[in-house]
Formats: sequence, C-alpha cells, structure tokens
Amino acid sequence: MAETDKKEQVVTPWDVSAEDQIDYNKLINDFGSQRIDAALLEKFAGAIDVPLHQFLTRGIFFSHRDMNQFLTNYIATKAGEAKNAFYLYTGRGPSSGSLHMGHLVPMRFTKWLQDALDIPLVIQLTDDEKFLWRDIEFDTVRQLAIDNAKDIIACGFNPERTFIFRDSDYYQDMYETILSCQRATTMGTSKAAFGFTEESNIGKASFPPVQAAPSFPTAFPHIFGKDLSKKAKGAITCLIPCAIDQDPYFRLSRDYASKLGCNKPALLHSVFLPSLAGAGTKMSASATDGSIFVTDSMDTIKAKIEKVVPVAETVAEAGDDVSLEWLKFFLEDDAEFNKLCEDRLAGAVSGVAIRDRLVAVLQDMAAEFQARRAAVTDEDVEKFFSKRSLY
Ligand code: TYM
Repeated sequence: MAETDKKEQVVTPWDVSAEDQIDYNKLINDFGSQRIDAALLEKFAGAIDVPLHQFLTRGIFFSHRDMNQFLTNYIATKAGEAKNAFYLYTGRGPSSGSLHMGHLVPMRFTKWLQDALDIPLVIQLTDDEKFLWRDIEFDTVRQLAIDNAKDIIACGFNPERTFIFRDSDYYQDMYETILSCQRATTMGTSKAAFGFTEESNIGKASFPPVQAAPSFPTAFPHIFGKDLSKKAKGAITCLIPCAIDQDPYFRLSRDYASKLGCNKPALLHSVFLPSLAGAGTKMSASATDGSIFVTDSMDTIKAKIEKVVPVAETVAEAGDDVSLEWLKFFLEDDAEFNKLCEDRLAGAVSGVAIRDRLVAVLQDMAAEFQARRAAVTDEDVEKFFSKRSLY
C-alpha cells in the first residue's frame, strides 16, 4: 500500500486507532502541546524530594501543557517565596466493572504525583458521560462508578487528601462552574472539538463543560472555599495527568480560564498502553481479548497473553516487541528492563522468554492489586466521597 493510502490516525476521547504505530510527534503538533524534554525533567527532579517516576524517565508521560510555569510556581511556593496552592485532577468514565491495565497508567502516576508534590487530588467519575454515550441503564452506570472507585482507592491514594466524586451526585455543587463553561461554549466549538453531528444526542454536546469544570477551584467550595476572590482564584492552579486522548476537554478548560477568572490548568499527557495484539490501538475495555483487567485471574492473564501477544523471531526495535513494550510500563527494575531490551535486539534472548517474563510481572502486579482491592470497604468509599477540606 502506498504511504498516502495509510489510514489516518484517529485520537479522540472515544476512538484511538492508526494503521500501525500511533505517531505521537504528529499528535503533539496537531494538539499544540509541548514535548517533555530533558530540561523539564531536570527541573521536575529538582522540585521534589524523590526520584522521578519511571513513567517520566521512560517517556511514557511524553507531552505537557504549562508544566514549566507550574514547576516555577511550585518551587517558589515550596521555598516560601510565593503563596500559591495546587491540586491534581484526574478521572474515569465507568464503562466496565473494573479497570484495565491501561487505566492504571494515569492512576499510578497520579498517586506518585500526589505523594511527590504533596498536594490534594480530586477524581471525577463520569457516570453521566457513560450514560449518554453507551447503552447502559442509569442505576447500572452509577453502580459501575462505585465499583471503579474501589479499584481506584486500591491504587493507594491518600484518604486525607483525595476527594472522589460521581457526577450524578456531585453535579449540583459544581453547577455554577459548569454553567459558566457552558455559556462560554458555542455549538460550533463543541462540534469542532468533539465531532458531534446532527444525530448526536444533545446531552453529549453539553457534556464537555462537565469534564472541564473540575479544572477550576470554584467547582470545589468545600476544598477551596465559597465565593473565591479574584486574587484567591489566581493563586490556585490545577494539574491534570491523563492519557493524551482526554486533551480535547482540557483545551476547552484552558479556553474558559480567563472568562472564569481562573488559571489555565497544566497537563501531563501519557502515551497509550497498546492492546496485547500490538500497536495502533489503545487497550480498551470493550476489546476484552487484547486487554488485561485488574480482576483477571493468574490463569486468565497467562492464557490471554499466550493467545494474543505476537512473538517475532527477531525485532529491529524494542518498540516492535509487544511484550517489551508492556514491560516498559510495568517492569520497575531499570537495570533488568534495559538488559532485556539489549538482549532482545542482539538476539540473545527469545521473544517467548520475554513474553514469559511479562506473564510473571503482570501476575505479580495483579495479585498485589487484588489483595489491596479486597481490603477496600464501603466505609472507605464513603470517606473518599465525603465533602471535606483536603488541607
Ligand atoms: P477513561 O475511563 O476512558 O480512562 C481513564 C483514564 O485512563 C486513560 N486511559 C489509558 N491510559 C493509558 N493507556 C490506555 N490504554 C488507556 N485507556 C484509557 C485515559 O486517558 C484516562 O486518563 N472521560 C474520561 C473520564 C475523566 C477524566 C477526567 C480522565 C473525567 N475527568 C480527568 C482524565 C482526567 C474517561 O472516560 O476516561
């Protein structure tokens, strides 16, 4: 097939696909974000008291918006030279009963950011979004949100500094902020940013402001106070870690900011954990064969990987080996990971041996996760959902 006949890559909050590898440089250009470079990593490392997370050093979080400014303010505040406040915001759209390994990428990274930066965190569960987009009943989607919240809590977030909310419960508290965002969005903008058509239900067209609103401290009066002054709003900045598919929502947030008298949120974007079947897709909750769920048994993990992961005799680049690509996300030991890459390229270790290592790493990770998940109670959920100050 001629180069020009290649399928156009698509990256939206609902659809991620490409002919082969996703071209992340093109995404940075198309979206107008910045690459995370060595200088930014050095500044980040200097701002915190722990080593950088491997998702940063291995380029899994690869793109950002306004992180330089965020770190400058953070460093000045930490040194007592400025008085700013910061919070983290991430989320999940509850479309399945449990998270998959791809969802753990932003969640684990956010947990690390919360500890490294020592700042509060809000987590949005968009049950409304999934009700509008999928054929799922309202009661079901609300229950999925609670089940997902338990998976999220099992990632180890600090209960004193984390507020988890389900849109269908919390909507009223952020309604004024949502309305302000809705008033600032024309139908044309919504269509252009999200591809809505005449056939889309109108709930969809009004949803993006609901995901944009938590980027602003006015959406959380119990955390930041009611009726914030202009000065108070200007002193609080939100940082959003997510995979890059969610960026269109936050481009809107950044457009709204000046109208709301708030700061633009900063962003950290990750690449996608690919499907087990290979690059060109993100792992998704609907394509169950190419996905590993945090609830999968040890046998299921082994069987899925052995059935689906392709094994080539030799590879030209580490990225061509799906098992190595997955190990880049989940094998924490840098020395072992680097050696596996070298040996695989040199033909000193077989594709099957790498795949077996992946099975073991994921089984360990899932077993540890499942033990923590089994310990999460309804009382824990209540605590994380309760409206309180996080300072
Ligand atoms: P959802 O539930 O599709 O995904 C939750 C988070 O996981 C990321 N993600 C992935 N990351 C790496 N590899 C993958 N294969 C993969 N698949 C999904 C998503 O980018 C996201 O960060 N509308 C949102 C929920 C939401 C949200 C937010 C997400 C509400 N507010 C703020 C991030 C930040 C959704 O349906 O995400």
